Amino acid sequence: MSKPTFYVTTPIYYPSDKLHIGHTYCTVAADAIARYKRLTGYDVMFLTGTDEHGQKIEEKAREAGVTPQEFVDRIVTGQGGILDLWKLMNISNDRFIRTTDDYHVEAIQRIFRKMYEKGDIYKGAYKGKYCTPCESFWTESQLVNGNCPDCGRPVHDAEEEAYFFRLSKYAKPVQDLLETGTFLEPATRVNEMINNFIKPGLEDLCVSRTSFKWGIPVDFDPGHVVYVWVDALFNYATALGYMNDRYHDFEKYWPPHNIVGKEIVRFHSIIWPAMLMSVGEPVPQKVYGHGWLIIDGGKMSKSKGNVVDPYLLAEKFGVDALRFFLLRTFPFGSDGNFTNELLINTINADLANSLGNLVSRTTAMIEKYFGGTLPVEREADEADAELISMIRETAASYQKQMDAFQLHLGLEEVFRLIGRANKYIDETTPWILARDEAKKPRLATVLYNLLEALRVSLIMLTPFIPESCEKAFRQIGAGEEARAWENASVYGVLPAQVTVSKGETLFPRIDSAKMLEELEHLNKPAVVSKPVLPDVSIDDFAKCDMRVCKILKCEAVKKSEKLLKFILDDGSGKERQILSGIHKFYEPEDLVGKKAVAILNLPARKMMGMESNGMLLSAVKEVDGKEVLNLMFVDESVPVGSQLC
Ligand code: ME8
Ligand code: MG
Repeated sequence: MSKPTFYVTTPIYYPSDKLHIGHTYCTVAADAIARYKRLTGYDVMFLTGTDEHGQKIEEKAREAGVTPQEFVDRIVTGQGGILDLWKLMNISNDRFIRTTDDYHVEAIQRIFRKMYEKGDIYKGAYKGKYCTPCESFWTESQLVNGNCPDCGRPVHDAEEEAYFFRLSKYAKPVQDLLETGTFLEPATRVNEMINNFIKPGLEDLCVSRTSFKWGIPVDFDPGHVVYVWVDALFNYATALGYMNDRYHDFEKYWPPHNIVGKEIVRFHSIIWPAMLMSVGEPVPQKVYGHGWLIIDGGKMSKSKGNVVDPYLLAEKFGVDALRFFLLRTFPFGSDGNFTNELLINTINADLANSLGNLVSRTTAMIEKYFGGTLPVEREADEADAELISMIRETAASYQKQMDAFQLHLGLEEVFRLIGRANKYIDETTPWILARDEAKKPRLATVLYNLLEALRVSLIMLTPFIPESCEKAFRQIGAGEEARAWENASVYGVLPAQVTVSKGETLFPRIDSAKMLEELEHLNKPAVVSKPVLPDVSIDDFAKCDMRVCKILKCEAVKKSEKLLKFILDDGSGKERQILSGIHKFYEPEDLVGKKAVAILNLPARKMMGMESNGMLLSAVKEVDGKEVLNLMFVDESVPVGSQLC
């Protein structure tokens, strides 16, 4: 009989920067689900990948002075990049899609054309508010305090000729889909979608752009590139061969379980099913919107700088301990506050104490009292009943939680059993039994029961901490069959005369104070003080004409995130125009009327089609990995036109 199939995906991440612990959290969760499904007999397809197009990446590449393709290649396939990270984290994905892969690009063009030919995509004009970091257009009413409702950053007016997807046409079927069954989970996210997005009225969605180049061209209208979210969402289908010949298992695995962060539930539970309805394919089996890891109550974001490096954490704590912590601590559907203390405490309590101790005490006692191999003679006791029934029953409750993606509750079940086994040691006091030769059969029974409790626990922990389970299985003498899911609810699977081997400590206890100090240290980047440059002559210095100027006007340059345009009074009687890329640090209205210092005799430069005559001086320093910039203001009493010397 062929196995049932199960298709699970993570979001495809933007390779705009290195990934952080939040992305790692989602990928590790999807990995645990994939491993769990394989364990329980499914033919699993597990997909992850990268979302490589869009304006933001185009801009980042320009800043870095490389092509967008070079830029993403470095982040995805380069040393210490995304592929390396997933390898390190022991992610068992079957496939990895990059949206710049040829087969995907061609498939997206076909998909776009298919929706166009059906009449679900049409040409119109777009006017709206655009958030560049989020690559999202918003209507006035969606803005929060005039800013992007997703990230809170400023938006700007944008207008372009564009293609639209008839999202409005699918409002009713999508609402029905959301209201029935278990399409979107956790259930709390359903009302949010209906009330915030569907009830106010679904507008048609702008699905092409002409304002930048780094995207998939619309093949029948080459000035346009396909909106990144259309390009991105269909990855789940193209990676199986939908509309392309690279793969051939769409029929086999479709539809998917799409695991996504809560901020992109809107795309996955409204736009995505609508587009699938348009192309006539089944909607996802499930969209699961997991919560965010937050730090000190705030969002962890690649664009904000307060990032926690998964490489560093894995190196300090071990891959399995990190995987375990992420999935044990935070309910998958809710937000969780990430702290180093919590990480250390969880590892110490659950892995070092509960699990690690149970393995090492049990194997050590079998070595000490029986030379490593249990004898056949046994003596049961009523005191065994509860532990044995838990050995038989835990897998069923674990399975129920795991099938609902309640990973932390699945682990809770396992640790209830492990806790019970540790208590059983205290109750049965094997070290006292060992003193009396006549009690050896009883002692053997106690130790065997502990091994069995460990064995079923390890089966259930395998999806979370695969490498450690492999080691622990070897230590307790569990062969292939004893590790099988079918035997996770059976008592008495290890041979009566099982041989154990005490091995390395699986999870060493962490000295919390010491570790916290170490991490603190690592988090502080060394203060880089640039070396003083080689001497210049006083004559060379005197060639620089630097003067005090008054800022008469200052405004943001349209279509640029960074540039401010200044009109200065330099004391000559004529107005001077200077452009400066400092919008990140100053708002124009805060600068008008101030006096600052500019160097006037630099050759004129063109920026965004405008001339810049000189440069405002500022003090620049890198602090905690971020550039801090301060314009050189001077006192109101210094006359305009004063020369610096
Ligand atoms: O949104 N806590 O990519 P992205 C938990 N390319 N999970 C987090 C997280 C945090 N602090 N930060 C990120 C995109 N994530 C699109 C997706 S899919 C067709 C296209 C995880 O690089 C979470 O799963 O911004 C979130 O949805 C995803 O990373 C966003 O990654
Ligand atoms: Mg995002």
